[in-house]
Amino acid sequence: MYVMMCQQQQAPSSSPAAASSSPRVVPSSAVKASLPKHLQHHQHISRQRSASTGDYIANYITPDSGNSTNSNRMPAEGGTGGTPDPIPPSTPPTTITTTTTMSAKEEALFDPWCDPKNPRVLNFQDVSAAAFKIKSGIMNTPCTRSHLSNLTNMEIFFKKEFNQYTGSFKERGARYTLLMLSEEQQKKGVIAASAGNHALALCYHGQDLGIPVTVVMPLVAPIMKVQACRQYGANIIVKGNDIGECREFALRMAKEQSLLYINGYDHPHILAGQGTMGLEIVEQVPNIDAVVIPVGGGGLVAGVALAVKALYPHVKVIGVESERCASFSAAMKAGRPVYVKAESTLADGLAVPMVGVNAFATARNLVDKVVTVKEEWIAISILRLVETEKAVVEGAGATALAAILAGELQELKGKRVVIPLCGGNIDTTVLGRCLERGLAADGRLVKFTVTVSDRPGGIAELTRLLANLGVSIKDMVHERAWIRSDIFSVEVKVMAETRDFDHWLELKSALEARYQQLRFATPNSIH
Ligand SMILES: Cc1ncc(COP(=O)(O)O)c(C=O)c1O
Repeated sequence: MYVMMCQQQQAPSSSPAAASSSPRVVPSSAVKASLPKHLQHHQHISRQRSASTGDYIANYITPDSGNSTNSNRMPAEGGTGGTPDPIPPSTPPTTITTTTTMSAKEEALFDPWCDPKNPRVLNFQDVSAAAFKIKSGIMNTPCTRSHLSNLTNMEIFFKKEFNQYTGSFKERGARYTLLMLSEEQQKKGVIAASAGNHALALCYHGQDLGIPVTVVMPLVAPIMKVQACRQYGANIIVKGNDIGECREFALRMAKEQSLLYINGYDHPHILAGQGTMGLEIVEQVPNIDAVVIPVGGGGLVAGVALAVKALYPHVKVIGVESERCASFSAAMKAGRPVYVKAESTLADGLAVPMVGVNAFATARNLVDKVVTVKEEWIAISILRLVETEKAVVEGAGATALAAILAGELQELKGKRVVIPLCGGNIDTTVLGRCLERGLAADGRLVKFTVTVSDRPGGIAELTRLLANLGVSIKDMVHERAWIRSDIFSVEVKVMAETRDFDHWLELKSALEARYQQLRFATPNSIH
């Protein structure tokens, strides 16, 4: 008897066996014999690689996590694409009937750890095992009450993940995935496609653990990040116009060079690693009502939701996306990960056009609500964090607070809410622009053009009016040659600082009362 493997259930394309003929035909007896004893009775064998399926994690349960059986246990990594789990995910796999094959391109780009046809649903033991393993190499970051609690009428606690050595929570999943490699794979190394935090985390922990790391970064990756990754001794390839092209290149290279490709938001060990943040949160803050988590590819929200809901099922888990890339909301609507257009956003870490298949399968029943936020609120959130918390947080990391400031989560008023500030890797120039945008959206940085008399004292009168209102001029330019109004007029462009939105309104009405020709530049005002 033979098991015919259909497309979604093919062996990893990078395995030597997979490179040969198709459709693949594996004797079912051989398949079963390669499984651990307790699984050999299993009826649904979704896919496997002949030589390595016996390579299981010996004990995936930490000493304090009880002895629950882990029906979705993950294999240790090994070989080119890693060894996929021959145990079906918790939802039963479809019966194997077809003999479809993948095209060469599909096969080259297939990541056996993130198979859309066979998503993995992680369980609590995966997270607790990760916590146990990474403890010594990851910082248990502080989770402290925020100064913004009064402003928001919530008890807000910030989990300060930007304090991790490379500036983000991504270290959790990266370290765990590296620690779970087989000895053989540790020698061969890993590869990823990333322009940011995942790259930094992998490079740093790869160096720490003596595991070779290659990262493919897009041509548009910030030079600072490329340099930082190189500084950790990693092999950095700058290639590809966007992250999609980097991924293709990395997956091909993984197969050619027997490297393990690590998806930064969907590899099961990444998810388990990210979940350790959830365990720390519930340990650090008693009686929480909700956690609000930024969502990109979904790895963080999946891991944290798993940890938090397993221990405290009543705690609400709320995901927040940038409205410019709402891929998790789209997936919730469609019932499966779907592509959305990813527009550029201040929260660049969240610009993932399709959520991960494992992340979605794990998170979909645990996330209570997903909201989206506008760019202006992300800028304001970055500004508030600098001003009130003395914390430099990147756009993606500030998105959860943005949802609260935007009034999207009114139901949390009076509640105890934990927000991870998950990353601090923001370019200084971008930070400067965010702060200015935040000030503009806040009504604290204003720009207007006003036509005043060109006779002596005309501009002095304008500056006096501003001074009397307590408005501070930052920049001022005047224009004579190109204006169309009468010859005795001058057009003055002013950038000025106001205290707040009400002060801005006061300025506006004073100018309107005195001058006829007046134009305010409207920032994407949120008021
Ligand atoms: C700072 C920061 N926050 C949040 C996220 C979202 O994580 P995920 O892609 O696992 O949803 C990312 C992803 O890169 C990030 O860099």
